[in-house]
Amino acid sequence: MAQPVSSTAQHDAAVSFDGVTKRFGDVTALNDVSLSIRRGEFMTLLGPSGCGKTTLLKLAAGFLGPDGGSISIDGRLVNDMPTYKREIGMMFQNYALFPHMSVAENVAYGLKTRRVPKQECYKRVADALALVKLKGMEDRKPRQLSGGQQQRVALARALVINPTVLLLDEPFSALDKNLRASMQVELREIQRKLGLTTIFVTHDQSEALSMSDRVAVMSDGRIRQLATPIEIYRRPSDRFVASFVGDTNRLRGTLVSVSSTDALIALGTTQLKVPGESLSGAGVAAPVDLFVRPEQLRLVGASEPCALTGNVVAQVYQGGHVDLQVECAASGYDRLLVRSSGDQAMTLWPLGAKVGISIHSDGCSAFPAE
Ligand SMILES: Nc1ncnc2c1ncn2[C@@H]1O[C@H](COP(=O)(O)OP(=O)(O)OP(=O)(O)O)[C@@H](O)[C@H]1O
Ligand SMILES: [Mg+2]
Repeated sequence: MAQPVSSTAQHDAAVSFDGVTKRFGDVTALNDVSLSIRRGEFMTLLGPSGCGKTTLLKLAAGFLGPDGGSISIDGRLVNDMPTYKREIGMMFQNYALFPHMSVAENVAYGLKTRRVPKQECYKRVADALALVKLKGMEDRKPRQLSGGQQQRVALARALVINPTVLLLDEPFSALDKNLRASMQVELREIQRKLGLTTIFVTHDQSEALSMSDRVAVMSDGRIRQLATPIEIYRRPSDRFVASFVGDTNRLRGTLVSVSSTDALIALGTTQLKVPGESLSGAGVAAPVDLFVRPEQLRLVGASEPCALTGNVVAQVYQGGHVDLQVECAASGYDRLLVRSSGDQAMTLWPLGAKVGISIHSDGCSAFPAE
């Protein structure tokens, strides 16, 4: 039976997890997780394999119960509420359409189990299929559809029940790159149009950054950072987030000074200003790890003023940009990744060239060295 929500949960939240823990034997899949998803928000859970993403979705859906903490949906505590009462739309990686049923029958399934009258059922299936651009395919069987079309049927099946929350677990991982990109855009358009609260799981960081209102970065059953994609990319809260989300380079520097807002880091012959919070406990002259995105590095002639010098050891042509790998003493001879738009860098900086590297400090982050 639904009960009033606890006083600690947020009332404007569509879904909230409050101190939720889930164990499987010795494994703590979720460790004291607190997370609120706002109404109409597209929230992504991003993290490496085994970090607890699917477990969190299963708890929201009611397939699993928490060992500690509380979960509420629309202001109601649902810890003990069965799945069928939660009115949740779901789509999983193996979206498992019923092979013997037509497209329309697959989509209608959730309505039939809810005993929705036939006439209304017919209209809602037609609306859901129109929404996912499958009008005219009602009578086909799943095997007569492409992968992307099957994915749309699964989405229509999740949407047709007018869910309070949509849960999506790596729904596009089986699709090729182009199809995946177009499904991402379409899903987001549908989700915005319906104002549907959505929890989306992926371990693909570019998918998370491109689709979400906010991203919860997870590792080892915990949420490491909860923020907008831009904040996650530009102001990672710890070294795990800094290295997991987006390509990055790690350079060893020395702390020159630190305040609550900024820190000054010495690196080679230059000094760089970075956000200070993450270094607040560190002493002057302490070694720090500086995380620099590949697009913040720029190659210049070796004799020009620059932070570092190195040698070009690889060029990777990527179409719109070139990734150059530069071997550099300051990175402990780890290869630095330098991203350059266009393709001029291919001829300007050939293999073996000795180069200078300048750093654009806006968007760098630094943490005490490990
Ligand atoms: N039913 C279960 N029994 C035992 N252990 C489980 C069970 N379900 C999940 N786990 C464990 O809990 C942890 C979290 O699993 P979960 O499926 O939530 O990870 P995930 O983040 O979704 O990973 P992936 O990206 O690989 O899907 C893992 O260590 C997993 O082995
Ligand atoms: Mg999973």
